[in-house]
Amino acid sequence: MFQPLDLTAIAGQSAKSTFKDQWQAQLERWYAHPGLYRWSLGNPLTRWLTRRRTRKLFDLMAGFVHSQVLLACVRLDLFRSLHQAPADLTELVRRTKLAPSVLQRLLLSAVALGLLEQRSLGRFGLGPLGVPLAQHEGIAQMIEHNHLLYQDMQDPVQFLSNAWQGGMADYWPYAHANTAALPDANGVNKFTRYSELMAASQGFVVQEILSSYFFSEHRCVLDVGAGRGRFVSELAAHAPHLNFMMFDLPPVLALARENLRAKGLSERVSLHPGSFLDDPLPRGADLITLVRVAHDHPDAVVRQILQKAYDALPVGGTLLLAEPMAQSEHQGGSDEASVDAYFHFYLLAMGDGRLRTPQELMDMMRAAGFTHVERVPNAMPIHAQILLGRKSKCLPLNAGKSVN
Ligand SMILES: C[S@@+](CC[C@H](N)C(=O)[O-])C[C@H]1O[C@@H](n2cnc3c(N)ncnc32)[C@H](O)[C@@H]1O
Repeated sequence: MFQPLDLTAIAGQSAKSTFKDQWQAQLERWYAHPGLYRWSLGNPLTRWLTRRRTRKLFDLMAGFVHSQVLLACVRLDLFRSLHQAPADLTELVRRTKLAPSVLQRLLLSAVALGLLEQRSLGRFGLGPLGVPLAQHEGIAQMIEHNHLLYQDMQDPVQFLSNAWQGGMADYWPYAHANTAALPDANGVNKFTRYSELMAASQGFVVQEILSSYFFSEHRCVLDVGAGRGRFVSELAAHAPHLNFMMFDLPPVLALARENLRAKGLSERVSLHPGSFLDDPLPRGADLITLVRVAHDHPDAVVRQILQKAYDALPVGGTLLLAEPMAQSEHQGGSDEASVDAYFHFYLLAMGDGRLRTPQELMDMMRAAGFTHVERVPNAMPIHAQILLGRKSKCLPLNAGKSVN
């Protein structure tokens, strides 16, 4: 039986075949010509293109090995232990307790992927892609967490007809109605587990928001789906004039309370436990933020959240929505767009949310009543894209009568 999931509206669904279709069909015929591959490799003008495409296809095939090399390095703590302290094979054998011959294969693979680098005297140090892994605990935690997703996807076709039955659905208690939020075998509450992961992985998203939007005009921010409060804590340091409200499920805000107290923020932040499925959002903030929340939920719930945000804001109030959004709407096959494949499958394994295009989310914001809906340009859209909407100060046309 198939899951009742929302469909993405695909552009270009007109009944007639267009000039673009004919061009694409012609290109496909050229690509399929048996002599093209040899000819284009022999031609210096086209060789780079064929090499690049072959490389990309090879990378797609090898992607699983790449991610397992990464996971092995994380599990062996290589990034942290080699940071500013290169070590040779003998020393790494001592630390990892692996045989030199197999460890060397792992190290050379990591060098090939740019995670490690060979240094003098036979030592290995961090490569350019390894440095962030040594510095940001959240990346290592996400790599470990992805292992759950890859286990669910081991048979990808089977996964497509059974996506909600795996470890990922079980990991996220709120994204799947059948999953009870009981402690797992290790006695760790599921709310604690995902809230810690979210706090650890939110740093890059927070940086994108803080470096792209001016908070000076606001006075009070309500963060909906606030988690343990990492965004609120960092924004509190960034904009000391702001006060905050946090809305999330009760067990999550219980964790946040401790966290805020430890950071000395209890006075500036009020906590509002509840569910946006059942409860209205609290009033009093002139900016509502939704960070990595909408994509977890089906369209009907997102519409409900946006409507509740609109109702809770004063006229002139602002909604800021930030999360990973689809990047392939204009050019599939690009490096940016390939990120979408990860999020499509992650969100499918998680529950009934989905990756949306900025346009889809902006349309939903308009439908809830927001005006001046715009995209906020940010430097690193892979972490999140940012949308803004206002609750207009203009009165509806027929409201003028009641004002006088
Ligand atoms: C993916 S996490 C994002 C947390 C945080 N904003 C971040 O970016 O790290 C989604 C958050 O929405 C909260 N949430 C999920 N369902 C909710 C509901 N029905 N009512 C209120 N909060 C909910 C979760 O508890 C979680 O903290």
